[in-house]
Amino acid sequence: MNHPVARFALDPDFTVGESDPRLFGSFVEHLGRCVYTGIYEPGHPTADAAGLRTDVLDLVRELGVTVIRYPGGNFVSAYQWEDGVGPRDVRPRRLDLAWRSTESNQFGLGEFIDFVRKIDTEPMMAINLGTRGVAEAIALQEYANHPGGTQLSDLRAAHGDKEPYGIRLWCLGNEMDGPWQTGHKTAEEYGRLATETARAMRQIDPGVELVACGSSSQGMDTFAAWEATVLQHAYELVDHISLHAYYHEADGDRDSFLASAVDTESFIENVVATCDHVGARLKSKKRINLSFDEWNVWYQAGGCPQLAPDAPPNQDWAEAPRLLEDNYSVTDAVVFGSLLIALLRHADRVKVACLAQLVNVIAPIATEPGGPAWRQTTFFPFAQASAHGRGTVLAVRPESPAYETKRFGDVPLLHATAVRDEAGGEVTVFAVNRSQSEPLPLEVTLRGLGLDRVLTHSVLADADPDARNTRDEPTRVAPHEASEGATVLADGTLRTTLEPMSWNVIRLA
Ligand code: AHR
Repeated sequence: MNHPVARFALDPDFTVGESDPRLFGSFVEHLGRCVYTGIYEPGHPTADAAGLRTDVLDLVRELGVTVIRYPGGNFVSAYQWEDGVGPRDVRPRRLDLAWRSTESNQFGLGEFIDFVRKIDTEPMMAINLGTRGVAEAIALQEYANHPGGTQLSDLRAAHGDKEPYGIRLWCLGNEMDGPWQTGHKTAEEYGRLATETARAMRQIDPGVELVACGSSSQGMDTFAAWEATVLQHAYELVDHISLHAYYHEADGDRDSFLASAVDTESFIENVVATCDHVGARLKSKKRINLSFDEWNVWYQAGGCPQLAPDAPPNQDWAEAPRLLEDNYSVTDAVVFGSLLIALLRHADRVKVACLAQLVNVIAPIATEPGGPAWRQTTFFPFAQASAHGRGTVLAVRPESPAYETKRFGDVPLLHATAVRDEAGGEVTVFAVNRSQSEPLPLEVTLRGLGLDRVLTHSVLADADPDARNTRDEPTRVAPHEASEGATVLADGTLRTTLEPMSWNVIRLA
């Protein structure tokens, strides 16, 4: 049977922009077992002197994470950062309202900085603008970043960290538009608070990079009006506005699930339009960028982030309970890859992105307390995109056969982007075939790129679309090389066939 062909052309004169290394960020929240028995487990056979699991550190390095957002998430909106610094034996135990857990505070700011330094990653610190405000934000900034000679900076030194942490990137609260958020606010209330917090933080250090809260999803009733109101206040004082989006297969509608990135791309484009509209109204020369600081596949109940479907009611106020421990299938990984493609396709405005989250909690890395750590299916697209998605994103305008979806109407079967590594001249094509059953022939015309050979064509696909990695079978799913001779570059054209429901990384030199 002859399948219709998908096509696009690549030309170095037609680009989207540079992909910011911070597109490959992640997120560590005090939630379930992300911190405790995830990254931090004193007594684990692989733990270092600070209690960090070195088996997890190795996997995080392999994943290629560039920035880590911390400590929440919903958690941050009632968090007191002071609880997590100083001698561990006197740190208070507190109720964590967001996840109905007990927080031991054995891991806090100093431990987090030690963690990011060990993995050579930039910290992105979220501050509590739910139950707290300007005073606590600048106290935290002084404790973290001031070199010394003041009460708070000297306290940091007394706690063992003489060198300032140098945190540059800060989130002004988390999901303040969401009624589930502790200290939830209207756009007007939050816009004012974010503005005054930003102003005070810039008085300490004009060089901080600040992210204002945007919408928790494009589906929020307040979406776009929220961004416009917040930015009307904060435009000149912040650098980025945040976006959060999670997707899952609902009602057995896998076709729509496979097209999730249609929502991601329209969300990004609508936020860009809103930012630029406010900028125009304010007659500003400044441009606000986007921080997509929570994205993933997440099988959540009823769309409400606080309703974790896997939270047994008898675990109320438990310490480090098993929450949100989604076990990802190959299908999830293909959708996940498509979300990465959506981010790269908008690299001109999306400058920071954080995969939520890093370990155990809707995460690419899974661990067992006292036991092993392993890669989920979603680990692979992220690691490959981080390794080969740095450079200039080339414009990709595919002509593709389409399929019908309930949620998004007709959607192209091909979702693709391409990134050129300026140093070596290599080009990597990232492509997803959204068809559940049909292979998709692909032709890419290559102009002026000086490419003449295929280095690799890595494929993530499986005869069983529900296959996943587990503790008992941790290597059941992994990318494989496309069959010999299936991907050919000749006379300036790359020809291949994408397997049904597959994530593909094709590297050309
Ligand atoms: O990542 C899980 C949760 O999702 C975060 O705590 C919150 O910000 C979002 O709703």
